[in-house]
Amino acid sequence: MKKILFASFESLPFIKTGGLADVVYALPKALDKNKYEVRVVLPLFKAIKEKYYDSLKYLDHIYVHSGYLNEEANIYSCVNEGIEYLMIENDNFFYRDAVYGYNDDVLRFCFYNVAILEMMIKLDYYPDVIHSHDYHTAVLPALCKLRYCAIESIRNIKHIFTIHNLVYQGIYDKQILFDYLAFDYKYYEDGTLRFNDSCNFMKIGIITADLVTTVSKTYAKEIQTPQYGENLDMILKYRQNDLYGIVNGIDENLFNPKTDKIYCNYNLRNYLKGKAENKAAIQRELGLIEDPDALLIGMVSRLTFQKGAELLANCYSELLRKRVQIIVLGTGESKYEYAFRIMENENRGKAVFYCGYNEALAHSIYAGCDMLLMPSLFEPCGISQLIAMRYGTLPLVRETGGLKDTVEPYNWYTKQGRGFSFGPYNAYDLMKVFDIAYDVYTQKPSDWHALMRNAMSYDVSFKVSAKEYESLYDRLVKC
Ligand code: GLC
Repeated sequence: MKKILFASFESLPFIKTGGLADVVYALPKALDKNKYEVRVVLPLFKAIKEKYYDSLKYLDHIYVHSGYLNEEANIYSCVNEGIEYLMIENDNFFYRDAVYGYNDDVLRFCFYNVAILEMMIKLDYYPDVIHSHDYHTAVLPALCKLRYCAIESIRNIKHIFTIHNLVYQGIYDKQILFDYLAFDYKYYEDGTLRFNDSCNFMKIGIITADLVTTVSKTYAKEIQTPQYGENLDMILKYRQNDLYGIVNGIDENLFNPKTDKIYCNYNLRNYLKGKAENKAAIQRELGLIEDPDALLIGMVSRLTFQKGAELLANCYSELLRKRVQIIVLGTGESKYEYAFRIMENENRGKAVFYCGYNEALAHSIYAGCDMLLMPSLFEPCGISQLIAMRYGTLPLVRETGGLKDTVEPYNWYTKQGRGFSFGPYNAYDLMKVFDIAYDVYTQKPSDWHALMRNAMSYDVSFKVSAKEYESLYDRLVKC
């Protein structure tokens, strides 16, 4: 049995701010239970404590001394759907309302990474592989290999580092490396820990992990170019032989039109009726005109520059000139929120903006819309398009990262495909492909229905990708 420890700052069902939490929840469950014993470590945040305290089991107490950091922590454990979660309790750092966004975030990350190692020592638990996710846990391989290397069981651990989004790197003053992570200066001098004249957690993870993965094949290629590389393209190129793109899946039980708590459940046999009823329900719920023939577009997204919100802001007037309705659900940068508020005000009954996040409403949107818009500037993998396809909602995406790998575009001649896509990042190209989609929707319903069926039968589970991760674990740990 190989022991794998997932180290992340968030995971469903406990805490989520982004797609990272979906993956860290779904992937461990998809790995072969007869071959891998997977545990997940998380900070014990306020929200988790308030909801799950009674189901947590106290395991032990640790001291975390690391440079100027002098903290204590309790370790708890809790089993959810067959996976053991280890949680690190330190109220100074984690008993707060939000997950990120504090002035001392870097100290919270440093504390967390060192605490994970102290926890392993205290529990005498040494995984074969530490699989760390995103920059928050990216210094774990370096801590194991450079600072705790005198302990054989730690030195022998292998490391996989997964990049979920290269934009967020954790760039800080170099002093962090010595003052709070207590690294030897020589590893800064030799370049291992150095990035320009500062410290960059993401770069440290990329350089020191045994293997690096990211969440789609196309993104793995894109990030080796200056356009998508966020100044780390050369570093990623340097590690190209150890860099793998493995596309994400979603949890099939969490997102299942057959069993979901939506207005009307459906499957491949009654999808047309199901879609129509859910569409009428969401139109009623959000105050849209109850028009079964309007093409209903949904966008469920963080409203950041990454997600292409500005393209929709630029072309919604043109879209709404047709028999089209639009629902936007999400929060983010105020300029986009402002634009979508105006969209709603000027188009009552045809366009709605729900500013906030609401999981139940998101499910109703996936179930009720005809099309999901995801015109991202870049997209490591993307989760919404996978969910949408499962609900027979055709994604209209930009051809980048995981969107390109998962949304096969409609082919006029063969009727193949499960959505629509465009290349150059601008509203004109978006509109051009939308016009094609609109024609199919209004003039060729049988083609549209074929696409819905293709989308619903596409395997969006983690089954295939879990096998790819397993083969990487097996490459690192022979036995
Ligand atoms: C990040 C990426 C998204 C990806 C998710 C999970 O949120 O932006 O594309 O699907 O991580 O890997």
